[in-house]
Amino acid sequence: MSRIAYVNGQYVRHPEAAVHVEDRGFQFADGVYEVCEVRQGMIVDLSRHLNRLDRSLRELKMASPMSRAALTLVIREVLRRNRVRNGIFYLQVTRGAARRDHYFPAPDTPPTITITAKSTDPSVAAKKYANGIKVITVPENRWDRVDIKTVGLLPNVLAKQQAKEQGAQDAIFVDRDGIVMEGASSNVWIVTPEAELVTRPAEHGILKGITRTTLMDVAAKLDLKVAEREFKVEEMMAAREVFFTSATGICVPIVEIDGKPVANGHPGTVSASIRDAFFDIAEKTPI
Ligand code: PDD
Repeated sequence: MSRIAYVNGQYVRHPEAAVHVEDRGFQFADGVYEVCEVRQGMIVDLSRHLNRLDRSLRELKMASPMSRAALTLVIREVLRRNRVRNGIFYLQVTRGAARRDHYFPAPDTPPTITITAKSTDPSVAAKKYANGIKVITVPENRWDRVDIKTVGLLPNVLAKQQAKEQGAQDAIFVDRDGIVMEGASSNVWIVTPEAELVTRPAEHGILKGITRTTLMDVAAKLDLKVAEREFKVEEMMAAREVFFTSATGICVPIVEIDGKPVANGHPGTVSASIRDAFFDIAEKTPI
């Protein structure tokens, strides 16, 4: 079955799906995006993802490409046309195509909107959950507004590639004071020796992950104590568990950091119980 993408009002075959050469997303990374999980035919946490999309657009003074009702319709249609039951959709909105100029284009320039969807193999995620992943730490070198989900992800790309070249799967940004920021495409959590779940505040300096927010609902249901506070690399290395949250991985255990094992070097039980409860508690929108 061939994949279908949505590009500016049309459903097109994936190999032919394209935007203009002068699109501002392409030229300036002048665009925002969302990635949302689909599981068992349900879109996970759609409202929260679309709320964050609205915020990202607002922060960049970009117009909304369409109403929420219309957008939801298109997302579901893309998922249906690609027969996704387990997978993700990726949505991007840019400030549109215009002659290259750093200033914003004329206000009537239509935004570019693209939506793609793909199926993923649940057994790949299951293997990650069973084995955990290895990560490296890298110095924070991103701009000050990573709270906006923009497509400007070059530092994240370079960090992940560096991890791969060093035999790890992912990277964690650490600031110059040794404070843990977030993963290259996820938020970081630790479980302290006192069994407290800790993640850093998300008002500034990191992306406020939707999975992170829903995980707090899950923790409340499971009677787990959560603290939002900064923590340093040393505290992370001494944690009982360390894990990532993101829409693509939900809750992925980290078993090795910079070549050193986390606890006994195996995935922990807290992240497993959170993962088990997550889907029941998250918002589910049928395709
Ligand atoms: N990334 N931090 C960063 C830098 C991210 O790129 C992401 C998500 C997150 C977690 O956010 P959420 O829980 O809403 O997925 C945190 C997506 C999955 C990506 O770029 O593919």
